[in-house]
Amino acid sequence: MEIVPGLAGIPVAHSEISDIDGDKGILEYRGYNINTLADNSTFLETAYMLIYGKLPTMFELSKFDNAIVKRQKLKFRIVDCMKNLPESSHPMCVLQSMTALLSAFYQGDKIDEQSEFDTITRLIAKIPVIVANWARMRKGDDPVAASDELTFAENFLYMLTGKVPDSETADIFDKCLILHAEHTMNASTFATMVVASTLADPYKAISSAIGSLSGALHGGANEEVIKMLLEIGEPERAKEYVTSRLDKKERLMGFGHRVYKTYDPRALKLEILLKRLAEIKGSTKMYDIAKEVERHAIERLAERGIYPNVDFYSGCIYNLLGISTDFFTPIFAIARTPGWLAHWREYRGDNKLFRPTQIYIGKHNLEYKPINER
Ligand code: ACO
Repeated sequence: MEIVPGLAGIPVAHSEISDIDGDKGILEYRGYNINTLADNSTFLETAYMLIYGKLPTMFELSKFDNAIVKRQKLKFRIVDCMKNLPESSHPMCVLQSMTALLSAFYQGDKIDEQSEFDTITRLIAKIPVIVANWARMRKGDDPVAASDELTFAENFLYMLTGKVPDSETADIFDKCLILHAEHTMNASTFATMVVASTLADPYKAISSAIGSLSGALHGGANEEVIKMLLEIGEPERAKEYVTSRLDKKERLMGFGHRVYKTYDPRALKLEILLKRLAEIKGSTKMYDIAKEVERHAIERLAERGIYPNVDFYSGCIYNLLGISTDFFTPIFAIARTPGWLAHWREYRGDNKLFRPTQIYIGKHNLEYKPINER
């Protein structure tokens, strides 16, 4: 028996939810190209489609949307718990804890259709509220309540800043959420499935996924990209920075991917969105630096199949929206919640408790010595 470190390349389930062609740079959700979805869909419609396997009718989408809008608030006891956390708590720590805490208030282990719908819409609704509330509360500001009049993306930015964003900015943010909503089997999706396979409720499963996403090897690279671009400071300095880093055999953050050996299709779309947002905000410097880094990096790395990945441009977009760097991964979690829920629901249809094995390499038959003889 041989172990496969990190289970790399080992399939753990059949799935109809998403697919990647890493050589051609194609990502599909349920058979729809993500570019088509980013151009035509909304985050909530895409979320419905990922979870329930088909595009919703007008009636289905409106029911889904209304259920989410009505749940975009938190029990005062949860808000009180958050008030008691140290201001320095990382937003991912707060998000993971408060998501788990939802299971103290709501039953999540019933599996009839209505309970499942309630749990799904509750998680999609409340995760952004937790994130936005914490962004304000840690600065000593009161939370801003969601508005029934706003879209999902508008509401998040409104709860975060207290200002209703212009519709084009909200639309760009909504597309970012679509592009991050799902990405086949990965650490956080697997974490969801492992926990859910024990029949633990979805609040605990999604909380585990958030814990998994918080690690630097999974959700954190977009923060590093912003640090790198700020360090470069001017587009003219990009070449020198890239050359010196690659000459020293250091990695460029936001480049390369285990599966994509060409452009990550999400990066291509995000670049267009960043360009537009930079025009709207009248601030193109970050975009100009990023493009220069990309140009010089590709000259050196393309022949090895290393191109910008999803993290390269997403961090720039959130930075331009004025969002603190430590909130980039929580936004990733907001976006990825439908993907996690889709896998939770799909796997539950033919659930098998995850129980891998190990190869024991320790000792046997040791003699127990009393403590005073050791
Ligand atoms: N910059 C420079 N060189 C790189 C980069 C990079 N970003 N990525 C890979 N390479 C080089 C490696 O140095 C290595 O070179 P070597 O063969 O001379 O030793 C070679 O390419 C292969 O590297 P691996 O790590 O084996 O390739 P893998 O496909 O496993 O890497 C990974 C994928 C981990 C994402 C890598 O590209 C990386 O570290 N990128 C930077 C961090 C980053 O952006 N992470 C976000 C990924 S997207 C996401 O998770 C949402």
